[in-house]
Amino acid sequence: MSKIFVANWKMNKTVSEAKNFLTEFLPKVADSKNEIIIAANAVCLADAQKKVRRTNVQMAAQNIYTERAGAFTGEISVEMLKDIKIKTIMLGHSERRIYFAENDEFINKKVKLALNEGFKVVLCIGEKEEERENKHTIGVLTRQLKVGLMDVSAEQVKNVYVAYEPIWSISTFSTGKTATMDEIAEVHGEIKKILAEMYPAVYKDIKILYGGSVSPKNAKSILKIKNVDGALIGGASLKVESLVEVVK
Ligand code: PGA
Repeated sequence: MSKIFVANWKMNKTVSEAKNFLTEFLPKVADSKNEIIIAANAVCLADAQKKVRRTNVQMAAQNIYTERAGAFTGEISVEMLKDIKIKTIMLGHSERRIYFAENDEFINKKVKLALNEGFKVVLCIGEKEEERENKHTIGVLTRQLKVGLMDVSAEQVKNVYVAYEPIWSISTFSTGKTATMDEIAEVHGEIKKILAEMYPAVYKDIKILYGGSVSPKNAKSILKIKNVDGALIGGASLKVESLVEVVK
């Protein structure tokens, strides 16, 4: 069955690095039936989007602002993304939550705006290490989903990919720990249950991705886990070879 791969380049790659990456990457995945999305910085998006046109790869934004236009220095609007034909926006990444103090209410405003404007949303959720240790994982994820998707209709939620990324398992937060297959299976099952309660009619259609130290070594086993419809890949998406291996 085909899977969804969202590469998260974070604050990496200049315009020319992105171009070189895609020149090498696109032919290598041209026969892939998987859905491949690369979330890139705003500076390289327009050129990169032109480069992936008419291929099986799409570019995505890593963030937007809650307002449509105006005096919001440094921010990026949905109109700007529409103009360059971007169709997907990643929201609520743990680095945005931690380094830029984004909370669930703020993320929800962006989620609603993006969905109302016809974008697909990759909504990232995940617990911190101490939240897991204190057995708050499910409570945290329930809040992130309930508030993050507040006032999102059953019709709209079909355009949301939920990405579960336990923060302590993300390579750059370097706790040295990674989630085990059992831990991933358990939490994805719980997320499915939360979504079933929130969206009884359509929860089966909502895709759930796993992220956090996904690599060519573990991708295959992770993607076999029940309720894992795809992967969100950070570090391993920066090199053509490793992203190709993960996708294949
Ligand atoms: P990682 O990052 O694959 O390097 O752990 C994932 C992410 O932060 O989205």
